[in-house]
This record gives sequence, C-alpha cells and structure tokens, in this order.
Amino acid sequence: MARLKMQGCWSLVALLVVALILIQGVEGAKEKRKRPKKNTFIVNSAPINFSAPVSEAPALFTSTTYASVSAATPSATPPTTAFVPQSMLPQPTNWMNLVEPEAEVVGPLNGGGDTPLCANVVGLSAGQRKLCQLYLDHMPWVGRGARAGIAECQWQFRDHRWNCSTFQDASVMGPIHNIASREAAFTHAVGAAGVVHSVARACRDGSLSSCGCSRARRPRDLRRDWIWGGCGDNLEYGYKFTQGFVDVREREKTHKRGSREQGRQLMNLHNNEAGRRAVIKKTKVTCKCHGVSGSCSLITCWHQIAPFREIGDYLKDKYDGATEVRVNKRGRLQIKDPRFNMPTANDLLYLSESPNYCVKNLALGSMGTYGRPCNRTSHGLDGCNLLCCGRGYNTQKTTIRERCDCKFHWCCSVECRTCSRTLDIHTCK
Ligand SMILES: *[C@@H]1O[C@H](CO)[C@@H](O)[C@H](O)[C@H]1NC(C)=O
Ligand SMILES: *[C@@H]1O[C@H](CO)[C@@H](O)[C@H](O)[C@H]1NC(C)=O
Ligand SMILES: *[C@@H]1O[C@H](CO)[C@@H](O)[C@H](O)[C@H]1NC(C)=O
Repeated sequence: MARLKMQGCWSLVALLVVALILIQGVEGAKEKRKRPKKNTFIVNSAPINFSAPVSEAPALFTSTTYASVSAATPSATPPTTAFVPQSMLPQPTNWMNLVEPEAEVVGPLNGGGDTPLCANVVGLSAGQRKLCQLYLDHMPWVGRGARAGIAECQWQFRDHRWNCSTFQDASVMGPIHNIASREAAFTHAVGAAGVVHSVARACRDGSLSSCGCSRARRPRDLRRDWIWGGCGDNLEYGYKFTQGFVDVREREKTHKRGSREQGRQLMNLHNNEAGRRAVIKKTKVTCKCHGVSGSCSLITCWHQIAPFREIGDYLKDKYDGATEVRVNKRGRLQIKDPRFNMPTANDLLYLSESPNYCVKNLALGSMGTYGRPCNRTSHGLDGCNLLCCGRGYNTQKTTIRERCDCKFHWCCSVECRTCSRTLDIHTCK
C-alpha cells in the first residue's frame, strides 16, 4: 500500500518537473521574442566630445612639419593660383580628383621609392603631393572618401537646380568652386566628411598599417557592467589625417589679411572642419550581445560611425541653414547680418550669393536646368514649375515594357507576361 502511495508521489513530482520545464520553455520563448531581432544595438550615449577648438585639436601634421616639407618641394610645381585676378583664374584644381586613380595607386604601391604617382595626380597641391607620397597607402581611401562625398552630394541635390554634377577635369566640381557660394561650402564639407569616414573605417578594418581599432576613451555614461572595447571605427585618426591632408592646401598659401582670397581660405577651412565634425556628431556608441545562444550575458560596446547617408542628411540641413559671412580688415570672418545667430564649428559658411542655376553659364559652373526631368504634380523643388524656372516643360510619351502577372510553377520556375505601359516624361524647356 505504502509502495503504491510512494509511486503516486513520484509520478506527481515527475509531472511537476515536466510542467516546470514547459513553463520555463514558454517564458524563455517570450523573452526571446522581446529581444530585438538583431543583437547589435545603439546606445543613446553622448558621442565623442571632440569640441576642442580647431587650433587645440592635436594635428597630425603640424605647421612646422609642413613648412619643412614645402621647402623640400621642388619649385617645378608652382602654386596654381598665385596673383591671378579672379576672372582670369584657371579652373581651381581639386584634391577630389583622386577619385580616379585608385587602380594606379594600387599598382605602384610595392614599387616604393620615387613613385611618380603622386606627382601625376592633377589636382593635388604641393603639400598634398608630399603627403600623398608619405601616406601612399592612404590614397585609395582618400579617393574612396571623395567618391562617397560626391555621390552623396548628387543624391542630396538630385531635385535641385544645381545638381552637383561633376566635370571631367582636375576641378572635379567645375567652376562652382570659383564662387564662394553655399554650394561650394557643401562640397568642401561633404568631401572632408567622406575622407574621415573612409579612413576611420579603413583603420578599423585593418587596411592601413599606421592605425587600427579606435582607442577612444570609454563614455562616462556607459553602464558599468558593459565592456568597452569592441573594435571601433578610428574616428580620431580619420579626423586628424583628413585635417592634415585636406586642409594643407589652404594653409600653404598666404594671402593679404582681409583680402577676398584670405576670406575664401578661412571659409574653406571652416567648412572642411564642419564636414569632419559632422562625422563625429553622427558617431554612436554601438553594443553587441554575446553569450550562449544570444543570452546577452556579456555586452561589448564601441564607437561606430553612421552610414554616410545620415551624415549627408545632416550636412544638407547645414546647407539649408548656412550663414553668410564676410572677411573683415583684421582677417576674421564675421556674419554679414548681425541679426542672425553666430554660427558654430558645425555650421556651414559662405561669402557670396549663388549664381543663377536656371540658365547655363559654364563660366559660373551652372549647367542650367534645360532637359532636366521634372515632376509635373510636385510642388517641391523637383516640380516642373520650380525646376524649370517658369520656362515650361516638354512632355514625351514613352513606353516601358516590364514583366507582369508572374506565376510560380511547382517546382521551380517563374513564368511572366510582358506588359507595356505608357509613361509621360516631362523635361524642362
Ligand atoms: C566637451 O569638452 C569641452 C572642453 O573640452 C567642454 O567645455 C564641454 O562641456 C564638453 N562637452 C560635453 C558634452 O561633455
Ligand atoms: C545634372 O543635370 C544635368 C543637366 O542640367 C545633367 O546633364 C546631369 O546628368 C545631371 N547630373 C546628375 C548627377 O544628376
Ligand atoms: C511626383 O510628385 C508627387 C507629389 O509630390 C508624388 O506623389 C509622385 O510620386 C512624384 N512622381 C514621381 C515620378 O516621382
């Protein structure tokens, strides 16, 4: 009798255990559902404090280093724009011309010694040429950054009268850089941002011998039990390298204090810095769960730069709110209309009003909007009314053929019909 009772008791215990396991399983499943799908997440932590003024930011190449570098530069490469009246300027060259030579850079890398590569890139200033030789392995990344910057510019301005078109010459951006407009402010910023982005990532990926993962300090507000130390994007190196490489062309010329040229120099330097800071501003602390089957028992965090689109959006906002400045007699920039707020280091500055981008004027870098496709129903910048500057538009019917009514046949083929549909394409007169 007692034995039977015991057996009943045991089976009760077994039942309980099974039930417990089941309940736990359900709980576990619930918990799993609560967790985000991806096991990396972004912490709303303050981004790196890089707000030290430009002069205090540690420079990779100090001005004294540069002075000796420029002294060693043969005079065969004269500065491109010395003392020529503005109207007679040849098109300004642009370091962004490095977008092209990626293939060339990879080639002579192992050749070492006096590679002719850097001397051959039209668009580099004397100082940039020297830095190109010193940091040859960085150049593909600089080129990649420039390309990302240009692509982002064209995306951001796809609906604008000025659409950031590039030119097949050493100026890359065409004559718009002759005018100290807000468009020039944007291209300088987005180009510098592209290089910071590209170099910081290259460091993290181990693609450059002179830098590695970020060694940024742990953010103070990071939860104590989270580990700081994943391999982060090396923003600091990217920032400093870009500062050295992109700014050197502005620093190597000296202009009369308070002159237009000096104002332009200050404007470019400011906008380059704003571009670099945009990358910093958008950098986030990102964390990842580790542990058995994603149990998140261990969390590591690092600095991660944002997708370049986010940086482009941010800079586009800065373009929309750019501040007009002028250079004063003491050689400082000051805001033209004192009613406006003082711009910060993150804001874009310009000295001159933009040319009229409605009409083609190649001397001013305006392609005009003739032939641009526009949207008849849109009231925005891409609408035919605004984009065509009131000149009206042509409508063309085009037929497009596409696959339609696709059916899936078991197994495994897809059969479609071809449908054609007519579409009205509007282009500016
Ligand atoms: C960043 O640093 C500057 C000076 O180094 C300081 O004044 C500022 O408060 C800091 N900002 C933040 C958000 O910590
Ligand atoms: C910009 O517009 C011009 C016409 O004005 C066009 O030829 C060019 O392809 C456009 N560029 C881009 C990048 O959309
Ligand atoms: C044109 O603009 C309208 C209104 O903004 C929008 O709904 C439509 O998708 C646009 N068409 C194209 C082809 O972009």
